[in-house]
Amino acid sequence: MAYAAFRSIGAYAPSKVLSNDDLAKMVDTSDEWITKRTGIKERRIAANDEFTSDMGVKAARLAIERSGLDKSQIDMIICATISPDYFCMPSTATIISTKLGLGNITAFDISAACTGFVYTLSIAKAFIESGMKKNVLLIGAEKLSSITDYSDRGTCILFGDGAGAAVISTTDNKEEAIIDIHTGSDGEFADLLMSPNGGSGSAHDALEQEATSCYMQMKGNETFKVAVKTLTKDVIEILKENNIQASDVKHFVPHQANLRIIKAVGDALKLDDKQVVLTVEKYGNTSGASIPMAINDIYESGRLQDGELMLLDAFGGGLTWGSALVPFSPVKK
Ligand code: UT7
Repeated sequence: MAYAAFRSIGAYAPSKVLSNDDLAKMVDTSDEWITKRTGIKERRIAANDEFTSDMGVKAARLAIERSGLDKSQIDMIICATISPDYFCMPSTATIISTKLGLGNITAFDISAACTGFVYTLSIAKAFIESGMKKNVLLIGAEKLSSITDYSDRGTCILFGDGAGAAVISTTDNKEEAIIDIHTGSDGEFADLLMSPNGGSGSAHDALEQEATSCYMQMKGNETFKVAVKTLTKDVIEILKENNIQASDVKHFVPHQANLRIIKAVGDALKLDDKQVVLTVEKYGNTSGASIPMAINDIYESGRLQDGELMLLDAFGGGLTWGSALVPFSPVKK
């Protein structure tokens, strides 16, 4: 039986910092309000000529190097993004693949908003367990600044840019394997968080198209409440179904949307602060990139050790949600 092992992680954050004070000069807000309501102090913003694929490439190079594989061994690449280089083609995954020189491998994007990375993980697991692929490169990359309305204080304070990447490989050792992944969705709540313009769903005369933006719009408070309920229910279920106690989880790695959401879920699971991974303060919400960026943070600071169990938990536009029980399983040297 082939199992899927989470071998390595990498991430990249652009150098330009956008602080709460910077935002207070652009919209009617303050460092105090943003910090108290979200936990965010600053976020990163990509340069004008730095695309989602460029950030994905930088994260991917690290993940491949740390996997111990030669890049020629990667046989599929999936990119989770809602801010691709180009709407609607080519996919950002194909651009990243070519920039990395991975050859003519399977490459595609998926759209599951902030749950994107957990969705890519479930696809990689299925491909590997079926024997169709052996080493899958996953990327969560976002240039959210390109779809953020910087006159809307309800959204622009939240989002930032960045990328994370991971290599998932086949193993016959069950101890190393990803234990379980949940994914779900409910389009009834589509209007809570969406980019209403720019697609075939926006009402316009096809022959007289007006320039439309893909800016995100969000009903923040309603989204907040659904997020806490859904995230909590999902992690409780995945732990119970796999007979794992919350105390057995070494690192709870939630989507970094809002510190108050993360704390509410952590409290519901009675997690110790030490178990909860937080990057929201320095990166804000980077959608599909947020979970791999957070995993990279504990890896690079030496907090993530071989064999330790991570519980991933995400929620986002769609609505979509997902959770995963993932031991960190680098190749033994
Ligand atoms: O990643 C995918 C999922 N996304 C999320 O999970 C995001 C979920 N939502 C949130 O994080 C929060 O709802 C926000 C941070 C967006 C907003 O916080 P909130 O505590 O839900 O505030 P609110 O929308 O209920 O607004 C409270 C007040 C309002 O003023 P009034 O009507 O009470 O006078 C807003 O106009 O805060 C005002 N407000 C602001 N004030 C200063 C809203 N945004 C701001 C702002 N600065 N940036």
